[in-house]
Amino acid sequence: MVLVRGGRIITEVDDYVADILVDEGRIVAIGRKIEPPAGTEVVEAAERLVLPGCVDPHTHMDMPFGPTFTCDDFTSGTVAAAFGGTTCHVDFCMQQPGQSIPEALDAWFEKLRVAPPVVDVGFHVAVTDLSSPARIDELRELPGRGITSFKVFMAYKGSFMVDDAGLLQTMEVAAESGSLVMTHCENGDVVDLLVRRAVAAGDVSPRHHLLTRPPLVEVEATARAVRLAELAGAPLYVVHVSCGEAAAEIAAAQRRGQAVWGETCTHYLVVDDSVFATDDFAAARYVFSPPARDRSEHDRLWDAIRAGTLSVIASDHAPFSFEQRELGRGDFSKIPNGAAGVEERLLVVHELGVRGGRISLNEMVGLLSTRPAKLFGLYPRKGTIAVGADADLVIFDPELRLSIGPESMRTRCDTSVFDGMQVTGAPETVLVRGIPVVRNRELVAEPGTGRFVKRGAPMLGATPARVAAEVAR
Ligand code: URP
Ligand code: ZN
Ligand code: ZN
Repeated sequence: MVLVRGGRIITEVDDYVADILVDEGRIVAIGRKIEPPAGTEVVEAAERLVLPGCVDPHTHMDMPFGPTFTCDDFTSGTVAAAFGGTTCHVDFCMQQPGQSIPEALDAWFEKLRVAPPVVDVGFHVAVTDLSSPARIDELRELPGRGITSFKVFMAYKGSFMVDDAGLLQTMEVAAESGSLVMTHCENGDVVDLLVRRAVAAGDVSPRHHLLTRPPLVEVEATARAVRLAELAGAPLYVVHVSCGEAAAEIAAAQRRGQAVWGETCTHYLVVDDSVFATDDFAAARYVFSPPARDRSEHDRLWDAIRAGTLSVIASDHAPFSFEQRELGRGDFSKIPNGAAGVEERLLVVHELGVRGGRISLNEMVGLLSTRPAKLFGLYPRKGTIAVGADADLVIFDPELRLSIGPESMRTRCDTSVFDGMQVTGAPETVLVRGIPVVRNRELVAEPGTGRFVKRGAPMLGATPARVAAEVAR
């Protein structure tokens, strides 16, 4: 048994001081001054916050991208996750061209086997090749395997991109099977045209990544995804929203009563497009999609978060080293897209959101833990602190100071888009199903402590518009 003693427990709705007793991985009691049975391990949490483990619904461990792979596997990536207070993440199993969905899953389970995780892991399936009708039937089988969300890329033409017919078919299966469709919204045909024009004109520096992916290609694709989801009657979750105008498309759908949710990512709240003011190749470390936007968009995203239009802040952890980015020296379109962030997410959201006065601690827990747990079928096992829930707990020291950079983070990635950021507040001890994984900022778990989690149906509940209306009443 484990007793977490005297911490200030924060859930999406509660804030109180109590002890938490854990047995066989689950919370069995919460109360004032619980007497621990003999042999109980005691974790002192006085003067600390106790948060439900964060749930990151958007990571890419060991993901192929062109000729390379993200540089964290499930072991290194989940060690980083654990230090950042994330006790469960949902990774994208990427179907390869010609591959069936079960084959794609076999490949992802093999990645878990060879690099066992230290935190719990679920999978979404990213559909990339629907050329055989058999794929549609295979998608129907996924909820039975604990996979209740499907991802479609509307960009990355020639690799992950699926056309509108494929998107609609995936949405139809989701509507039938009670799953959630996730979309990467950028108009891949238009991006491809702009990229080909730029490269032909000799505009090959990383700056042209920004110039060939303007906000309107994201806004247009967001509006299209929303309308196709409406046509299919499918619930939709738009990943990595980067700008206010794309969020406005989601808000409009929510006002119409449509079941649409939006996510932004930590880096869209920190990085702005001034990093591309130069033609220097050093800017390659900021190549992720959609790209960073004008600084004014940070406030627009926070507004959309506070309004409930955006329900989740994810990491989109997709780390590539600077050496890997060298693939695109001489042609920016060959720079692998993505940034590390699985460890930084809670640190940055606490710093900018809570300490910056933009959101409350409860809202932070909602954005990082409870809402992703609900949307991705993990709640109430994950995403809250309650009797019966998994004892995924973060003992968070609100006074601990850290400087973020590649040297201080656990990812294998040698570049950080958050480099130099100073934060106050960080996880001190992290439990996964009651097992200490990080204790006093030391890794104490073996690879394999984390397990694959079969997820249930998304708990969609009231649409964001209905919740907002209730709150306004
Ligand atoms: O640049 C990004 N976001 N890379 C990861 C793949 C994706 O688009 O989510
Ligand atoms: Zn994406
Ligand atoms: Zn992603």
